[in-house]
Amino acid sequence: MSAKIIDGKAIAKQIRDSELKPDILGLQAHGITPGLAVLVVGNDPASKVYVGQKMKACREVGLHSETHEFAADVPQADVLSRIESLNRDPRIHGIIVQLPLPPRFDMRALLEAISPDKDVDGFHLYNVGALVVETADDGTKSVFPPCTPYGVQRLLEYSEIPIEGQNVVVVGASNIVGKPMALMLLRKNATVSICHVKTRDLAQFTILADILVIGAGVPNLIVAPMVKRGAVVIDVGINRLDNGKLVGDVDFAGVSEKAAYITPVPGGVGPMTVTMLMVNTVAAAQRQMARAGNF
Ligand code: GUN
Repeated sequence: MSAKIIDGKAIAKQIRDSELKPDILGLQAHGITPGLAVLVVGNDPASKVYVGQKMKACREVGLHSETHEFAADVPQADVLSRIESLNRDPRIHGIIVQLPLPPRFDMRALLEAISPDKDVDGFHLYNVGALVVETADDGTKSVFPPCTPYGVQRLLEYSEIPIEGQNVVVVGASNIVGKPMALMLLRKNATVSICHVKTRDLAQFTILADILVIGAGVPNLIVAPMVKRGAVVIDVGINRLDNGKLVGDVDFAGVSEKAAYITPVPGGVGPMTVTMLMVNTVAAAQRQMARAGNF
């Protein structure tokens, strides 16, 4: 048996064409073009690639976008004051600070400075808390799911893979992927386990998974004997090998003989992350306009 490949690139395009573009046209009919500001501090090479992808996606769907670049030795107060001015800027509906920051920065102070209404990465404590506590979405509060787990959830839903009552195992407990992913699938009534670097005998957990989501950053961490026959395997890893090849955390060739569904790397979760950033930015623009009484 060979697994069905979940084509994240095609699904992302479908969401852009059928959901994002009509929503953007609807906003433009009211004189509003959703705007995203990306703050980049220092010269992390991977960040440059990711930010380039985000800017390209904005251009393609018709969002206004700006990058705000700072030298690695910029005072933190300068970045904070830029965030504050972007919070007040009516052309900007979403603000993200590209991570990682150089180590001397207080990441939390910067993330908490972003208005929760414009926090389209979903990293502000208000939006993190909203993953746990149901909030009344009465238009006065914003709730943005973080883009990568949101993209995984949308991939599962698009592929009509049931979540409720399924055994989900999340490998990797990062704040950006693993923890929010686990909470989002818990809210969909899955039975969720989180494994991480201190987990003993990873395979005894992964073998039970109906849905296995891996975001650990370790090439070939998951091999076929660790996967239940017929499982859904979602690979969030992005690893650049010494030979330049881009791979995930899963032995794709081996595991695709055993799984029912699998995401490739590249072309699986990655394109969805960028698309969910656009989805959150458009949602932010819609909420900000609704609140201003213009929509
Ligand atoms: N660095 C790696 N992933 C992300 C992300 O989703 N958002 C931001 N801002 N930085 C990142």
